[in-house]
Amino acid sequence: MSEASNSLSQSDKRNVLHPYTNISSHNEAGPTIITKGEGIHVYDDSGKKYIEGLAGLWCTSLGFNNNKLVEASQKAMRQLPFYHTFGSKSHPSAINLAEKLIAIAPTPMSKVFFANSGSEANDTAVKIIWYINNERGKTNKKKIIARNKGYHGVTLMTAGLTGLPNNHRDFDLPLNGILHTDCPHYYRYGETDESEEQFATRCADNLRKLILHEGPDTIAAFFAEPVIGAGGVIPPPKTYFKKIQNILNEYDILFVADEVICGFGRTGNMFGTETYELKPDMITLAKALSSGYLPISALLISEDIFNSIELESKKIGIFGHGYTYGGHPVACAVALETLSIYDEMDIIRHVQEVSPTLQNGLKKLTMHPLVGEARGVGLLGAIELVKNKETKEPFDIGVGVGGLLAGRMQVNGLISRAMGDSLAFAPPLIITVSQIDEILAILAQSLDETLKILIERGLK
Ligand SMILES: Cc1ncc(COP(=O)(O)O)c(C=O)c1O
Repeated sequence: MSEASNSLSQSDKRNVLHPYTNISSHNEAGPTIITKGEGIHVYDDSGKKYIEGLAGLWCTSLGFNNNKLVEASQKAMRQLPFYHTFGSKSHPSAINLAEKLIAIAPTPMSKVFFANSGSEANDTAVKIIWYINNERGKTNKKKIIARNKGYHGVTLMTAGLTGLPNNHRDFDLPLNGILHTDCPHYYRYGETDESEEQFATRCADNLRKLILHEGPDTIAAFFAEPVIGAGGVIPPPKTYFKKIQNILNEYDILFVADEVICGFGRTGNMFGTETYELKPDMITLAKALSSGYLPISALLISEDIFNSIELESKKIGIFGHGYTYGGHPVACAVALETLSIYDEMDIIRHVQEVSPTLQNGLKKLTMHPLVGEARGVGLLGAIELVKNKETKEPFDIGVGVGGLLAGRMQVNGLISRAMGDSLAFAPPLIITVSQIDEILAILAQSLDETLKILIERGLK
């Protein structure tokens, strides 16, 4: 490590509070400092090259040096470096982007509200749901149901919706009025002799029980990612969403599809909503909307919802919500360019062509003594590590087997994230078949090394 990078590392430890990090271990080990990106690769400050197996945080769909996006941002920055959409102001890139998103929306949508992050888009969805239910006289219909292991963000409301214990613990969350229902992970929660379809029925029955227990006139909305992402990449079991949506319709409960990870090709269609035949009332988008190059998110709302917002804002005198940087002109211009590159490249066809290599390769790894399950769809996949493949018994949490494997992978030049004992893969969508093979080879080697370490420590 050079003196300069050494001092950067020290400065990081002195000055940066890192999200999703064990702060105490970080103070010992220090940061991995990434200084450059190129295609699907990033480089650290010693020049070491890594494949970014998670596209950063599931976002850099077009890789790390797309020049057209750089040029689009420079042009927009010179033209109009800031403007907003408060108080009836507007600007061309927000208008054009909204028009494009409405045109490509997977189900009929009426309006687009811009924000800066997935959390803000989901938070806005909750606020709008409360706002319109007040307009509709359903003043008790305010509770929101999400799922265990679902991920919807980290703001006060969305961290509560997120169904992961570490997002709640000691943050005094969730807030009142948030409920969680089953995680639809068949491998983990399906019972012996229960088919995937029967498991889906049980999840739907449990949702109905929860709604009836709370009172249907108190439940406003249900949030779900088409494929659970940060909870460990969990595609829905067969027939799941059909059964869930029937219940939501029955009890007049709005459905918010969180497409923050699935949107823009990740599952092999433009939206996860298409892959799983969803009929959401609202859709949230972020990440690959701008290939992660600038912060931008969008909430798409149906005509019905828009009509209620209009009535309520007329009554109050204003729709009192908005973020200073929502619909930032430079971010909108980059998002527009991103969408145009997807069209030019026919990104959906590309994902459909290359993704079987990833999915089949992960499936093959279930032969490995550590891999209990491989799962995924499109360019979104995971493997789950288990202590005992017969019984699916997991390793003790203290072993940190996922982190161990992620560590080996990083040494071997592949960055990804452990979600508990699952390792997730969501590479840039521009990845080629031979690059996917490289990921699989590094993963196989790292699995062998992890197994060796576990055996040496008497843990396997
Ligand atoms: C499905 C989903 N929703 C919401 C979010 C929150 O987005 P952000 O981190 O931009 O607030 C994420 C982030 O990973 C996500 O994966």
